[in-house]
Amino acid sequence: MSKEEKKLFIQTLGCQMNDTDSQHIIAELKEHKNYITTDQMEEADLIIINTCSVREKPVQKLFSEIGQFNIKKKKDAKIGVCGCTASHLGEDIIKRAPYVDFVVGARNISKIKDVVDKKGSVEIDIDYDDSTYQFAQNSNSLYKTSVNISIGCDKECTYCIVPATRGDEISIPPEMIVEQVQKDVAKGAKEVTLLGQNVNSYGRRFSDGREKTNFTKLLQEVSKIEGLERIRFTSPHPLHMDDEFIEEFAKNPKISKCIHMPLQSGSTQVLKAMKRGYTKEWFLNRAKKIRDLVPNVRITTDIIVAFPGESQEDFEDTIDVIKQVKFDQIFNFKYSPRPNTKALEFKDLEIEDEIGSARLIEVIELHKLHQSELMDSNIGKTVEVLFESLKPNGEIAGFTDNYCQVFVKGSDELLGQIVKVKITDATRTALKGEVVN
Ligand code: SAH
Ligand code: SF4
Ligand code: F3S
Repeated sequence: MSKEEKKLFIQTLGCQMNDTDSQHIIAELKEHKNYITTDQMEEADLIIINTCSVREKPVQKLFSEIGQFNIKKKKDAKIGVCGCTASHLGEDIIKRAPYVDFVVGARNISKIKDVVDKKGSVEIDIDYDDSTYQFAQNSNSLYKTSVNISIGCDKECTYCIVPATRGDEISIPPEMIVEQVQKDVAKGAKEVTLLGQNVNSYGRRFSDGREKTNFTKLLQEVSKIEGLERIRFTSPHPLHMDDEFIEEFAKNPKISKCIHMPLQSGSTQVLKAMKRGYTKEWFLNRAKKIRDLVPNVRITTDIIVAFPGESQEDFEDTIDVIKQVKFDQIFNFKYSPRPNTKALEFKDLEIEDEIGSARLIEVIELHKLHQSELMDSNIGKTVEVLFESLKPNGEIAGFTDNYCQVFVKGSDELLGQIVKVKITDATRTALKGEVVN
């Protein structure tokens, strides 16, 4: 270890965009400030927590967590709070926890190298535009990589705090995205995940005011990259799933056949109150088109139960959509009132917690049935798996093209390879199989 090398411990909460932001923080601090990462908080010179605000629980946890860091940390170690909670609480974090050295909002991550040594810095400018900032490169060689394609979110879903923490949507220029993917592929990546809060509204606004483009065109550009085998993306919005996009998804062999379709609610009335912009029928129509064109597709979703005013009938509509679409994976949430959101105005209509919990359980139980049925249907099939990690029990794990996790007995020679596997067994969340020689 060279003399000035310092150690960084970083904890990441929230979504995949936060994961990428943390990778950017690590790369910037390594390149400009000589930090290397450690997984031992007690030995770190700098502790960063990259936060999520989307539901209330993680926010409550933040203060107890940094309190613990403060007690256990090395003397003189610094503590920084980054991410979405940093955006919306700003300097209140330092007021409440004066041992915090700096606060950097989700839209200001590119300033990290300038604030680490400035005690008391609070950088949370919601209009800051770092869409063309060239982040330092992380030298890790990975089989898969994630690249941001936009910052912010222009939607106004009434329950959601993200537009307030990440600001307006600005697309990252396509040539920057392509260049980044090319660099990662040159280092060994076979798969890329294109990330944004609303990926399929890509291309409507760039910081240099250039001509508009769209997500389908971006997918076509990225798929030209030689050596790149799989393209994934998250999150798309059901409203923007036009025919052109669905047809590209279906016919482009590099696009992984797993799609996230965040339903939120199956009731047209609740969708309207959420300002989602689509109806139950539109969602079902889009899901059917995808299933018709891509028979092996896996469809995942997000569902919020007990949104203010959600009647039993509204909830039955959600159950009905779940039964019709049979999602491969559901991320379910009970509505959580968030600051700076329009849904706070519907406070009088809030649903009793017990009802919300019962609805959540109903969704979970129904989904378990579908999951078992869908996963069992893979037994006996031969699939292509990109292997990416070795498990302590000697198994090796990877994902199918439609993004189902598969475990086989095998050695690290399989890492980074796409290999044919015959499926022999299934649980609700993963498959087991044997390599076909
Ligand atoms: N931009 C992405 C992700 C948004 S946050 C998208 O639109 O899909 C991820 C998920 O958290 C949302 O899809 C939603 O299901 C859930 N969520 C957001 N705000 C919430 C709230 N106030 N209460 C409960 N769940 C919420
Ligand atoms: Fe939130 Fe809606 Fe934007 Fe997703 S699309 S981040 S749910 S406002
Ligand atoms: Fe959470 Fe911010 Fe992502 S609120 S879900 S970390 S956009």
